[in-house]
Amino acid sequence: MNVENRTIFEGDNLYVLRGLDADTIDLIYLDPPFNSNRTFEAATESEAAGAAFKDSWTPNDLDSAWHGELAEKAPDLYHAISTAEFTHGTSMKAYLIMMGIRMLEMYRILKPTGTLYLHCDDNASHYLKMMMDGIFGKDNFRNEIIWQRAVTSKGNLKKGLARDSDLILRYSKSNDFVWNPEAVTIPYDMQDLDEKTKRQYYYVEPGTGRLVSHTSITAQTQNPDSHLTYDVMGVTRTWRWSESRMLKEIEAGRVVQTRPGNVPRYKRYLDEQKGKTLNNIWVDIPNLTARNKERIGYPTQKPIALLERIIRASSNPGNMVLDPFCGCATTCIAAERLQRHWIGIDLSPESFKLAKLRLEQHGITKQVIHRKGHPQIYQQERTLKHTLFGRQEGRCDGCQTLSAFRNMTVDHIVARSQSGTDTSDNLQLLCGTCKLMKEHGIQDQPIHLLKNGGILS
Ligand SMILES: C[S@@+](CC[C@H](N)C(=O)[O-])C[C@H]1O[C@@H](n2cnc3c(N)ncnc32)[C@H](O)[C@@H]1O
Ligand SMILES: [Zn+2]
Repeated sequence: MNVENRTIFEGDNLYVLRGLDADTIDLIYLDPPFNSNRTFEAATESEAAGAAFKDSWTPNDLDSAWHGELAEKAPDLYHAISTAEFTHGTSMKAYLIMMGIRMLEMYRILKPTGTLYLHCDDNASHYLKMMMDGIFGKDNFRNEIIWQRAVTSKGNLKKGLARDSDLILRYSKSNDFVWNPEAVTIPYDMQDLDEKTKRQYYYVEPGTGRLVSHTSITAQTQNPDSHLTYDVMGVTRTWRWSESRMLKEIEAGRVVQTRPGNVPRYKRYLDEQKGKTLNNIWVDIPNLTARNKERIGYPTQKPIALLERIIRASSNPGNMVLDPFCGCATTCIAAERLQRHWIGIDLSPESFKLAKLRLEQHGITKQVIHRKGHPQIYQQERTLKHTLFGRQEGRCDGCQTLSAFRNMTVDHIVARSQSGTDTSDNLQLLCGTCKLMKEHGIQDQPIHLLKNGGILS
């Protein structure tokens, strides 16, 4: 690992990500701009004053070469992203290119046992799912977590339903990933039991007052010839347990028959259970409200509890956690509290200050490293072809068809023999067919015809 624990980088995460060693990060959580077409700014009186970021995208926000780099490294993905332009528009395409070029790097630096959580919402979630399948492979998709923000929102009921959920896509890099089920097991609140649990543990044990559920101990399929078929309290069934195990449970008073002749059942105490396991719909972590103590005024600040759950579930103490869009460093604080190592990256100079301030607020006296710039970039491979590809948005300059990066060739608009220059205004990318036509001397006219939908004779 070529970066120290507790580092906050100030800068564009693309170049920092490119500078991080491959296969070194255990867990990545990112909460990037959602393509919401808004601008976020912290209130001037808050601790996060000065923090701002915009969240609307046009092709002008992109470095043209990213198109080419993405199209070269992930040609199928580039095609899928171009399709987003047809169904949604140029802004979605620009957003996905911005995200895709970074996601390729995140995938590269993730350990084979690593996990990535992508936080988004319905502005782009369905398009991002497609992008993620293209990079991680659909078989490495693990969960779509629906996080109910549970904040009373100003939904206009005349037009439809209020939006109260964010979406978190969970992907692993391989089949062999870290997963800790304890992190998604929530202890029962004995004072305030949910309806389902109340129905299940309906019986109050006289004397102790403990809540009990009577669960079945018969086997799924009844087979008279099985060695598991025998008599218990006058009832013959195929049971789940061997006779010796059954005897032990009976001696311990854990097998009950509510009435003579009834099938005996197992007596389970609620207070002995670890808790209930969560599913993919998380409704128990409310988003921060203005008055919440944790809130420091950073727009889009996420609750520490949300990050703690993710970090517990998909990493172990001592592991390296990265948040490439770290904002006010919520992930970093949560990681520190759970004895993980961490790195944060953000464009905003506020992130470092806020990370420091928040660690102090949590009584953690650790030095945070502030780095501007980025580690040595592992490869610098962009060429003019990448830039031209972006300028033409993946289309052949002749026939205007979306063409694969590898099928495009750099072409001098005015040939060098006719004193055409090597400058980018005299260069274009042509697909194989157009290039051939041009080389056969029928260049300008057919290309002109094709552009105008004409027919070649
Ligand atoms: C939705 S906020 C993240 C909030 C964070 N989860 C928290 O709890 O504070 C997105 C952040 O991404 C940052 N950002 C946007 N584009 C970036 C880029 N290319 N490189 C690094 N950071 C970027 C913005 O400055 C903003 O802080
Ligand atoms: Zn062409």
